[in-house]
Amino acid sequence: MPETIPAQAMIGVLDSGVGGLSVLREIHDQLPGYPTIYYADQAHLPYGPRPQAEIRRFVEQIADFLIAQGVTVVVIACHAASAAGLHYLRARHPDIPIVGIEPAVKPAAERTQTGVIGVLTTQATADGSLYRRVIERFATNTRVITQVSPALVTLAEAGAPQTPESRALVAGEVEPLLAAGADQIVLACTHFPFVAPLIRDVVDGRAALVDPSTAVARQVGRVLAVRGDGALTATHPAHRYCTSGDPAAFSATIARLCGVRVTAEQCRLDQTTA
Ligand code: DGL
Repeated sequence: MPETIPAQAMIGVLDSGVGGLSVLREIHDQLPGYPTIYYADQAHLPYGPRPQAEIRRFVEQIADFLIAQGVTVVVIACHAASAAGLHYLRARHPDIPIVGIEPAVKPAAERTQTGVIGVLTTQATADGSLYRRVIERFATNTRVITQVSPALVTLAEAGAPQTPESRALVAGEVEPLLAAGADQIVLACTHFPFVAPLIRDVVDGRAALVDPSTAVARQVGRVLAVRGDGALTATHPAHRYCTSGDPAAFSATIARLCGVRVTAEQCRLDQTTA
């Protein structure tokens, strides 16, 4: 008989929208026994063009909400939110492990044969110190080309339709990286794994895509193990999906992107929709 998860073991995952679901599905695969609660801040999407201080305020409110729901680990499944709020949240909640996500420049720099890597991302991540730091630490001998691609966030939120228009849009973002010789393309926004099939069509074998979601889920497992929760399993863990936007639309996008039927809840944390 599997042990029962104590009420206090729960994983909270947050993003501006559907992007963090690319991390959540890895968490469900690797840690199937854990209840999860996912928060999509779709009322404030996109985060990418916003100032760091504003994103930090949103992340703080969401983390407070998740912790009030009983989560014991918070996963910031968003590069922009990690850039703006990871260190701040760790200082604010020293007793709760906070797992963040940084651009996967290290594996890309290790694997490149051409010495050129492309990074698809959003403005907040490109401007953040996490990105600057990984480049300084791991890519000093590598040419790093940053492509800020907010349109790909919109495409993922729309369910990543496979249309001629979306193919043309993706080609416009990816071709400059290939033309510059990139043989590794880092997906430095959690929305982008959902448009990976479209990106692969354009890339056509000329570069590898680097997606950090598997590594992030592994890190969550390590954190749970350190807390002593690593061996616990539950047969039917509950999974909640919250949005500050439209729950019916969110449920439909989850079904389309992840192939699961859920009833999302609306959880507004403030009345700001700007
Ligand atoms: N999914 C988010 C990330 O990983 C960003 C999307 C947005 O701009 O809101 O950075």
